[in-house]
Amino acid sequence: MKFHSLLNALALATAASAHISIYGVWINDEWQGDGRNLYMNAPLRNPDWSYIACHTLGNREQPKWLEVKAGDKLAPEWFWTKRGDMYTGNHVGPLLVYMAPAVSTGVNTPDIWTKLYHYGYNATNGLWADDYFQKFAQDNRGHHFITIPDVPAGDYLIRSEIITLQEASHLNGAQHYPSCVQVRVTSNGSKVLPGGVSFPGTYIPGQPGLMWPPEGTETADPANYPLPGGDVWEGSPGGGIYGLDDLNDSRSV
Ligand SMILES: *[C@@H]1O[C@H](CO)[C@@H](O)[C@H](O)[C@H]1NC(C)=O
Ligand SMILES: *[C@@H]1O[C@H](CO)[C@@H](O)[C@H](O)[C@H]1NC(C)=O
Ligand SMILES: *[C@@H]1O[C@H](CO)[C@@H](O)[C@H](O)[C@H]1NC(C)=O
Repeated sequence: MKFHSLLNALALATAASAHISIYGVWINDEWQGDGRNLYMNAPLRNPDWSYIACHTLGNREQPKWLEVKAGDKLAPEWFWTKRGDMYTGNHVGPLLVYMAPAVSTGVNTPDIWTKLYHYGYNATNGLWADDYFQKFAQDNRGHHFITIPDVPAGDYLIRSEIITLQEASHLNGAQHYPSCVQVRVTSNGSKVLPGGVSFPGTYIPGQPGLMWPPEGTETADPANYPLPGGDVWEGSPGGGIYGLDDLNDSRSV
């Protein structure tokens, strides 16, 4: 079940994070290599910055594109300082994934982004998306995944973002770790991304979900956490976080 034809192209437009960034990408459980072309793991705090789209220098095209088709499972692997060591401090917060056509006007073009997946807090076991990454990092090496939607052929960016909330009780205290992967979709589907999300633009400083607990409160029930960026597109096949449903789902490298 290998897809050797996909091995010739890999690229991350950028990486992010205190400290987490994307180490590389898996497609259909096959490792695509280390794609840290722009290793940046510092947090971004102001969602009005242009860097909020794809982190510092994220507007610069990288030489390689990852070939994918509808139904493929694309899994970014995050890390902190070395592979498998997802930050184990006080990070808590959600994961959000967006997709956009790779337009010549760049990653900050208004309304090009569409949300494919998000995960906030699980009230049943008290775990945030971040917790799944951290607690099971040894097993799952900080992977999440999305299934490529049935979009028209072309070049796209997949934007994964971890937001950490441990300092989000003040304005622009939330830490954003956006990271974009360049993909070339070779299948030719008919589900055009509706767009409607802008980076910057959609996230408003101080909005619910970026200030947490909400302004004027000292505590808040995470079960009520409002994920920023709107609803997931109904045309998205979705995604997940390794370790979420099967804590023993270990990747082989
Ligand atoms: C929440 O956690 C429970 C217990 O681990 C798990 O069964 C359930 O699938 C999780 N829910 C979601 C939406 O991930
Ligand atoms: C994709 O399908 C559309 C509609 O049939 C067609 O116009 C277009 O040329 C196709 N693109 C590619 C790259 O095959
Ligand atoms: C994972 O596997 C180990 C060894 O088989 C087992 O002891 C443990 O209970 C499993 N953990 C979960 C969460 O299933």
